[in-house]
Parts: sequence; C-alpha cells; structure tokens
Amino acid sequence: MKKFPDGFLWGAATAAHQVEGHNNNDWTEWEKANAERLAKEAQNYWQPWQQEKFPEMFNPANYISGRACDHYNRYEEDFDLAKEMGHNAHRFSIEWSRIEPEEGKFNQDEIKHYQKVILALRERGMEPFVTLWHWTNPIWIQNIGGWQNKKTIDYFLRYVEKIANEYKYLVNFWMPLNEPGSFVGMAFIQGSFPPQKRNIFTANLVFKNLMNAYRKSYAVIKKITPRSEIGLSHYATYMEPYKNRIRNRIIVPVLDYIRNWRFLDTVNDYNDFIGIQYYHHDLVNLKFGKGRWGPIEVKSENLWTNDMGWEIYPEGIYHILKKAAVYKKPIYITENGTADANDEHRARFIREHLKYVAQAIEEGVDVHGYFHWSLLDNFEWDKGFWPRFGLVEIDYETLERKRRPSSYTYEKIIKSNAIEVND
Ligand code: BGC
Repeated sequence: MKKFPDGFLWGAATAAHQVEGHNNNDWTEWEKANAERLAKEAQNYWQPWQQEKFPEMFNPANYISGRACDHYNRYEEDFDLAKEMGHNAHRFSIEWSRIEPEEGKFNQDEIKHYQKVILALRERGMEPFVTLWHWTNPIWIQNIGGWQNKKTIDYFLRYVEKIANEYKYLVNFWMPLNEPGSFVGMAFIQGSFPPQKRNIFTANLVFKNLMNAYRKSYAVIKKITPRSEIGLSHYATYMEPYKNRIRNRIIVPVLDYIRNWRFLDTVNDYNDFIGIQYYHHDLVNLKFGKGRWGPIEVKSENLWTNDMGWEIYPEGIYHILKKAAVYKKPIYITENGTADANDEHRARFIREHLKYVAQAIEEGVDVHGYFHWSLLDNFEWDKGFWPRFGLVEIDYETLERKRRPSSYTYEKIIKSNAIEVND
C-alpha cells in the first residue's frame, strides 16, 4: 500500500456550462448556429466503431447544451453522491454570464445561488475550489470581441472583484482561469471552438490578454482575501519524440515549453498553487508538409484508448508532476479523467494514474489533492453529450443519476487514503 499524505484532498471537478443547463452565453449561441454542421461532420471525424457505438453524434440535438444535467437545480443530490464517495473537496465553476448577464448589472439571485452551492459543499464537508472562468463568456463580452479585446480584462476583473467580495468568507481556493492554453489552441489555432478564428497573431494576443487577466485577478483576490490560495488550472501533455528520431528529440523540448510551461513560467509569481490537468500523451513527429499543427504531427501508439480514441497513458502524469515540481509550489491535480460510456476502463484508469501520483509524492513532489474529471457525465463542448466522463452516469431522458462501478473503486482509495500498488 502507498499512503497519501494526511489531509489529502479528494474530489471531482465540473464546469458550469457543461452541467448546469439553461445557460445563455457565447457557447449557447454558437451551439445553435453549429449543431447541424457538427452532426454532419461527425461522419468524417470519427472512426466507424465510434460512429456505431455513439449514433447520437449524428443528431444535431447532441450539440445543444440545453438543460444538460440540470445540475443548476440538482446540485444537492449530486453533492450527496460525491459525499457518499468520500469526497472532501469539489471543484466547480461560476458562470460569469449568470452573474453579469448585462454589462455592469449583477444578478443578486445568481450570487445567492452560488452561495447556496458553496454552503451545500461546506455542509457536506467538501472544500470548494472555485473556477471563475471555464471558457464561456457573457454575450455582451462576445459582442465586444471577447478576449481579443483588451477591455475584456477590465470587465473580467470587475466580475472577479465582485465574486471575491461576495464569497470571501466562504472560499479558500480560487482558480481564476481554466486552461487558458487549451482555450487559445482550440479557438484560435485549431479553430474548432468559438469564435473559430485561426490566426497565430490573434492567438498570441488572446494569450497575452489572458495572462494579464490572470495576474491581475490574482492581485484583486489577494487584496480582498489575503489568506486564500490562488492557482492556475493548467493543461499539460506529456510529450516524447516519435521513434526517438533526432529531429523529434530537438523539437519536443521546444514544444513542451510552448505548450506546457510558458504560461506557468510567466505567471509563476502569481500562483500559490499549481493546478495540473492531465489527459494526453503525444509522440511528436516533425514532418515537413502541412498538417493540422503545421509541420508537427502528433502520433499515439494507441495501446490503450478511450471512447474518443485518446491514448490512456498513466505514466505521463508522473513525468508532468516531476517537471511541475520545479516551481516549488503545492500541486493539485485539478482534472484527470476519461470518456468511457461502458465504464470498462475507468477503474483501472483511476488506479493506474493514482499509483503514479503516489510515486511522485514518495519522491518528494508536493501533491495536495486529486480531482477526477468528472463527477457527472456532461456536455463535452463541440463533441456534445456522447463522450461520457462521469463517475456518475446521467440518463439525459429522465435525468436520473447512477453511480458507475468505477466510482466504488475511487471511493475505496479515498476512504483508505492509500492505493494498493500491486492491484
Ligand atoms: C476541460 C474540460 C473538458 C475536459 C475533457 C479539460 O481540458 O477543462 O472542460 O471537458 O478537458 O475534454
């Protein structure tokens, strides 16, 4: 058995737009405009086995978040399940478009709503980790150009200030931004997320605006509640050179820096802790010719994959944690999970990743907590509802919740605060 440190935080993570239902933000509009297209494109995008297993990908309704899991109304029921699993922490996001649906007009009912959410967690002995922006913007922000417009930084700070003042006695852990790097990549480099503008200069501008917003949010929250802890939730991919070729060995550290560590380096003085979100392992191949990422081709050995075809590579979390340790900050794994509708792999996924987390801790990496992605099945952005990431399964017809078998594996680990290494 490998023990986790006393006081280790165990939980799961969600994001407002993916679970709450009935939001009205830039994504809601984008979904309506793009659902038909996404349903048509599924044919070219997914493998035959995926198309057969998840025929709902051809239905435009799959791409409309709608009532989602109705978590907005059912959060107590959901937190009861999390408590049953032994969670002592929970990460969720506050939806800016609910709090400030019109410029400068803060909605007191919504402020009360999230206060109730936080109190519901506290009543159940769960430490709230509050994300303030998980990729969605109010429509009035979209109308001024979103994060491409510098003014968005000031507007965001005003919202951050409001929230920090409202919940300063209730929240100890704040995460102003979720994965700014992935947002920039998906929206401005790959061009699949709204506002779908593929342009390297715009990408760089948005990146800088988000960095500034992060730094300034840190200062705003610190001033209001100096004892609270603030951190970035950061996406990190474990990269290795494909076939160990020399050109790939040269490019991997460069790419690793740009994708994994550049943002963290620039905001390092503004992090009380680091939130690591780990999903991917990439074998990087430098290939001349035009691909999705320019001359870079990403390969995967596909030895063990999930419903989305993503390679499952638990060892990667260990390498990422060892690298993140150089910042000498407490680390929380704020997301790690897999799309697995039949729950065939999730128990092993959790066990294997946690074995590597335990190993990193044993070697001195200061990991303080683990949040599985996700508590519930949810709306997986431009892929819609068919990818199932939940410890809890949602029947989207009846909204019935059902714990998946793997949630009992997770519960066992949590309740013993240890993992069996030969399991
Ligand atoms: C995001 C989540 C998303 C998950 C799985 C993370 O990068 O923060 O919103 O659902 O990955 O794709």
